[in-house]
This record gives sequence, C-alpha cells and structure tokens, in this order.
Amino acid sequence: MPSERASLGLLTKTPYIRVLTYPRVSLKDAKARIRQLRALKVDELVFEGPSKVGRLGILGLGTVGIVVKASSGGRLFALKIRRTDANRPDMEDEVSLAAMANRVGVGPKVFAHSRDMILMELLDSEELIIWLRELKGEGKRATVKALVHSLLNQCRTLDIMGIDHGQLSDLRKHAVVSGGEPRIIDFESASRGRKPRNVTAATQYLFIGGALSPALRRALGIRDTEKLKGLLADYKKDLTDYSYSKILENLKLARG
Ligand SMILES: Nc1ncnc2c1ncn2[C@@H]1O[C@H](COP(=O)(O)OP(=O)(O)O)[C@@H](O)[C@H]1O
Ligand SMILES: [Mg+2]
Repeated sequence: MPSERASLGLLTKTPYIRVLTYPRVSLKDAKARIRQLRALKVDELVFEGPSKVGRLGILGLGTVGIVVKASSGGRLFALKIRRTDANRPDMEDEVSLAAMANRVGVGPKVFAHSRDMILMELLDSEELIIWLRELKGEGKRATVKALVHSLLNQCRTLDIMGIDHGQLSDLRKHAVVSGGEPRIIDFESASRGRKPRNVTAATQYLFIGGALSPALRRALGIRDTEKLKGLLADYKKDLTDYSYSKILENLKLARG
C-alpha cells in the first residue's frame, strides 16, 4: 500500500494542504489547523487508506469530514478533519454525542478534539458487505449471527441512552467490521432530541430493505419478514426490553 507521512511543518505545502482544508485550499485555515494539531499532540499525518485525494491515501471522505491516519506519541489514530464547506462551525456536537456513546462502549473511542478535529480510535475500514462476501464455509452462520447480534445490541444500547444515531438506515456507510467486531461510526447526525430508531433502522437495513438483506436472510435461514415488520412496529412504539427480545427471537438470535 503506498504510504506517505508528513510532519506538521509540511502541511501548508501542496498536496497536503488540500487534505487539511478540503475542499478549498486556504493558507489561513491551514495555519489555524496546524495549531490545533499541535495542541492535540499529533506528530504526523499518515496518508494511507482505501480512498484518495490526489495521490494521497485517506481513510474516508464524508460530507462533514475528511478522515486520515495520524500519528501521536508513536501510536496511530483516526483524525476527522472538518471540511471547510461543512454545514457547521465546529465539531462540538458530534464530539459530545460520540463521547456519550463511548461511555456505553459504542463508537470509535474519542481521545481528544479541537474546534475542527476529532482524534479517535483507528478502526479497520472493512465494510460489512465485503466482510460478508468473504465469509465461507462451516462457521458462517454462527459468525454472521454473532456479528448481527452484537450490532443490534449496540443499537439497543443507544436506544436506551436516548441517542438516535440518525443514519443507521444507511448502515453500509455507518458500520464497519474492525478486528472481527462490528463498530458503529460517525455521530455527525446523532441527536438526543429525537425518538431513537437505531434498532428499527438497522434491522430494516439488515433484513428487509438494504443491499445486504437477501444474503443475511439466507445466512440466518429467515424466509419471511412480515412477522418481523410487525415486531419492529411494536418495538418502535414502546422501546421495551420485551419488544426487543421478540425481535431477537424472530431473527433466531435469542440465546438458549
Ligand atoms: N475511526 C475511524 N477509523 C477508520 N476509518 C474511519 C473512522 N471514522 C471514519 N472513518 C472513515 O471515514 C469515512 C468518513 O467518515 P465519517 O465520520 O462518515 O464522515 P462524515 O461525518 O463527513 O460523514 C467513513 O465512511 C469511514 O470509511
Ligand atoms: Mg457520514
């Protein structure tokens, strides 16, 4: 994998400045951001990853942020840098929601942040869909079950906390498999001001509407989703443990 490192002093130069102030090069913004990187104790940005800006590898590009590897004290992190055209002036709301999710073990761990940046746990960026495609053979059903169960439990935990992630209906972009575990990412649209619909959105994506649903239904031996739709409607109304357990049972994920 092509990889390139740049210390902070180099970041006002082309091509690095393009990542630092994406999508519009701005020397003034770049300087402010380098000061923030210094405060975050970032030593270098490490340009490698599945996406690209010009020749530089990055972890990913969203509508709010551009995410790159960053090295601090000899350890690697994921650094989310606010796009200069993002629809918000800072990363404060995302950080506070992500930190709340972290307290119940959900989301990449946030280590530090500044106005324009979040320094967080680096995850493998393996997509669910690719992970599933690569799974083969004997243990497949058990592995898929364990992964889906863990993912839904994370959603359930967020529901109980009153945090609505907001984008789990597009789960493909908002959950990755890292170290064999499903991880929910990106709290930029999260809110505590709405009724949480994490379990319903994720289940709907995984088993009813999403690109993965035929493969997942096959893997878990689920023929019919009519009953499941009813159970999701019940859960949406009362958000109780009982309604949640009925969903797990229907998906054959309940223990025992
Ligand atoms: N902690 C992380 N570790 C590794 N890759 C990440 C991490 N967070 C985000 N990414 C990658 O960066 C992409 C964009 O990040 P995201 O938080 O979704 O940005 P946005 O808020 O702009 O949508 C993600 O789709 C993912 O591929
Ligand atoms: Mg996003």
